[in-house]
Formats: sequence, C-alpha cells, structure tokens
Amino acid sequence: MPHTSSVQIARALLADASRILVLTGAGISAESGVPTFRGPGGLWKSHRPETLATPEAFGRDPRLVWEWYAWRRALVSRCRPNAAHHALAALAHARDGVRIVTQNVDGLHGEAARERAVRDGTASVEPIELHGSLFRVRCTQCAHEYAHRAPVDASSPECLPTCARCGALLRPAVVWFGEALDPTLLDAAWRHARASAVCLVVGTSGVVQPAASLAEVTRAAGGAVIEINPDETPLTPIATVSLRGTAVELVPAVCPGG
Ligand code: OAD
Repeated sequence: MPHTSSVQIARALLADASRILVLTGAGISAESGVPTFRGPGGLWKSHRPETLATPEAFGRDPRLVWEWYAWRRALVSRCRPNAAHHALAALAHARDGVRIVTQNVDGLHGEAARERAVRDGTASVEPIELHGSLFRVRCTQCAHEYAHRAPVDASSPECLPTCARCGALLRPAVVWFGEALDPTLLDAAWRHARASAVCLVVGTSGVVQPAASLAEVTRAAGGAVIEINPDETPLTPIATVSLRGTAVELVPAVCPGG
C-alpha cells in the first residue's frame, strides 16, 4: 500500500472534482481473473495479442482468431466484477459528471453498473467501451452488429458463426490494431477528458493510442491525473499522484464514499 498521505491526496482530489474521467485498462480486471495483454498470461498458445487482434490476422485465418476470442469469451463469462469495478460504479451512480471510459472488452464495468442501478433503483450509468465488446459481433459483409453471448465453435472454418441477417461470416465487434475507434464514442471521451478536473487512470500500460492520450488531454486542460498501477507506465511522468498497488487495493480507498 502506498503512503497513506498519497491516498488521501487522491481521495481529496476526487472528492472535490465536479467532473471526473475514469480511464481503465486490462489491469482493473486482473483481480477478477481476466489476463492482461502485456503481463504474465498475456500470451495465448504462444501468440501475442497484437498479432491476433488485427484485420490482417482475421483475413488470413479467421478460424484461429475466432478460436482465441472463443477462449477469451469462455474465460470472461466465468469472471465477476471486483471491488474496483464496484467502487467506480458506485461513484458514477452517486455523482453526476463521472464518466468511465474503458479499453476493456470484458463488459465487467457494465455488469457492475447494472448491479448498482438495481440496488439503487436508478437507471444504469453505462461506461464508454472504446474498444468494443467481446460479446458483440459484426457481419463482415452487411455490417449488421448485435449482441452474441453463445459459445463459439471454432474447431473448423465451416463451424464459425454467421450473420443472422445475411449468412456471411461474423467477426468480433472489437476494435483491432490498425482500425479506427467509433468517432462518436471517441468524441464523447475527448470532450469529457477536456472538461474534467481529474482523470483517474487505473490498470493500463498507457501505450495504446488514442486511449492513453485522454489523460494527457485532462492534464493539458489544467486537470489532475491520478494513476493506480503496480508498475510505472509512460503516463507516470504526467501523474499528479501515482499510487503503486493493485486496483482492488486502491480504487475503493480513493473513491469518495468508498
Ligand atoms: P495491458 O495488458 O497493456 O496493461 C495492463 C496494465 O495493468 C499494466 O500496466 C499492469 O502493470 C497493470 N496491472 C496489472 N495488474 C494490475 C492490478 N491488479 N491492478 C491494477 N493494475 C494492474 O492492458 P491495456 O493497457 O488495457 O487493445 O492495453 C490496452 C489495449 O491493448 C487493450 O485494450 C487491447 C490491447 O492490445 C485492443 O485489443 C485494441
């Protein structure tokens, strides 16, 4: 646990901020059992995610890419939001002006938000999922996009899931390397980053753009950056407060009301 005074400074910054952008990455879900991309367990059958999460890899071998996503979907289906997801959901539901922007495709922020909404009897405050969702698919021909939670059989190319509308091959509705983010989502995240007094960055290596730039946008607009991560990252130099530790240990500790 970092020095208590750093935790208190972070907590005070968050308590005083009228607008907060929370930027999360794979590290926030690590303690739920979801492997991070670049940490231990990031490799799958000796493949690096960067070599599978591309349109080129899917064009070359859709079965292999689907096999990886089928494995990740099955793994994530067994995971539950942890105390960090819940603390952030509570913050976003308790205060206007708090927006969670995630690079994660695991849906755990959304689950925590919906559980919170049921508990509070309010509407769910959904996160902005910049990189899409593991549990949505998009048609490679007609671009029809929809929710899809059923297990995927990727044992042969003939078994791969096909579009409910036109019958063509489906792909995961996630943003791959080299692909553009949804401009509406990115614009909303950007506007919130500019208007926020604090950007709370949790569990991201800060190397994937444009997500990592959101913290810089808040900083450049005069806001503070709080980083929670066991390790230093390229965002550490711009952090007003850097807290070394895990998301479950530190997010509830800094969240006002947590
Ligand atoms: P990474 O796997 O690159 O980084 C995870 C970060 O979480 C690292 O900085 C770890 O130090 C930190 N971490 C590990 N355990 C933690 C814990 N218990 N609590 C807090 N932090 C912890 O994941 P991202 O930064 O999310 O994109 O990766 C960004 C994007 O690159 C992903 O969305 C994905 C990936 O390839 C696409 O697929 C487009």
